[in-house]
Amino acid sequence: MKFIHLTDTHLVEHGGDLFGTNPRTRLEQAVAHICEHHADAEALVITGDLTHLGQPGAYAALRECLEPLPMPVHTILGNHDGRENYRRFFPEAPRMPEGFVQYARPLGEYLALFLDTQDPGEHWGAFCETRACWLREQLQAADRPVVLFMHHPFFPVGIASMDALALREPRHFLAAIAGHEARIRHIFMGHIHRPIFGSVRGMPFSILRGTNHQVALVLGDDGSNDILGSHEPPQYGVVLLDAEQVVVHAEDYLDRSDRFYLHAYG
Ligand SMILES: [Fe+2]
Repeated sequence: MKFIHLTDTHLVEHGGDLFGTNPRTRLEQAVAHICEHHADAEALVITGDLTHLGQPGAYAALRECLEPLPMPVHTILGNHDGRENYRRFFPEAPRMPEGFVQYARPLGEYLALFLDTQDPGEHWGAFCETRACWLREQLQAADRPVVLFMHHPFFPVGIASMDALALREPRHFLAAIAGHEARIRHIFMGHIHRPIFGSVRGMPFSILRGTNHQVALVLGDDGSNDILGSHEPPQYGVVLLDAEQVVVHAEDYLDRSDRFYLHAYG
C-alpha cells in the first residue's frame, strides 16, 4: 500500500505569510500535487505543527486545504498547535479520555500508532506516564508489525538548536517501547524541518522537510539558541509499505527542473 507523509504545515490565520512564504499556498500546492500524482494513496498523515500559532482560522484553513484529498487524513499535534482549537475544528479526531491525541489505525499490513508529544506552552516535547501506558498496551496487544508517528524526535539529531527542543526526559517513552523495538518497523516524525534518515535503537526513522519553511543544516553548537531557518524546497513523503519493506520517497513537489530520459544521452 501507499500513503503520504506530510509534516509541519504551519498554517496561519487570514491567509498570511510566514517567514516570507505563504503556508496556505504551499499546502494547496502539495495537495494539488498529491491529487495529480498519488490519488491512489490509501492514507495521508500530517505529523504535527498543523498550524503556527494554533489559531482557529488556521485550523479552518487546514480543513479547507485538505478537502480535495480523496484519501483519509490522520493528524497529530506538534508544539505549535493549539489543543483546544484543534479539538474544535477536528472533533472527529480520536483522543484518549485524558485528552491526548493518541490513536491506532490499521495501515496496510501494519498497525499505525499516532502519538501525542505536545507539552502545552513549550516547544520541546513531552511523553508522560499516561501516554506511555497507552503506548505500552498498544505494543503488547499488537498482532502485526507497527509503525509510529510522532512530532518530536526522542533522540538528538546533531542540530543543537533543535536537539534542545526534542522530547524532554524520554524515559517514559523508552520504557514503553523497551522489548518491542523489533516490532517497530519505522518511526515517522516532523519538527526538525529537514530530511533526516537513519535508525535509533535498531528502529528505522525518517524526518522530512515541512511545506513552508525549513531549518538549515548547522551541525553542532554554534553558540546561539536561535534556530537558523532556510527556504530549501518543501517536501512530502511517498511511503510504500508491504510485509517485507517500508520504502520512503522524498518528493520536492515544487521542483521544476528539467526531466529527460537518460538513454537519449547515452
Ligand atoms: Fe514545525
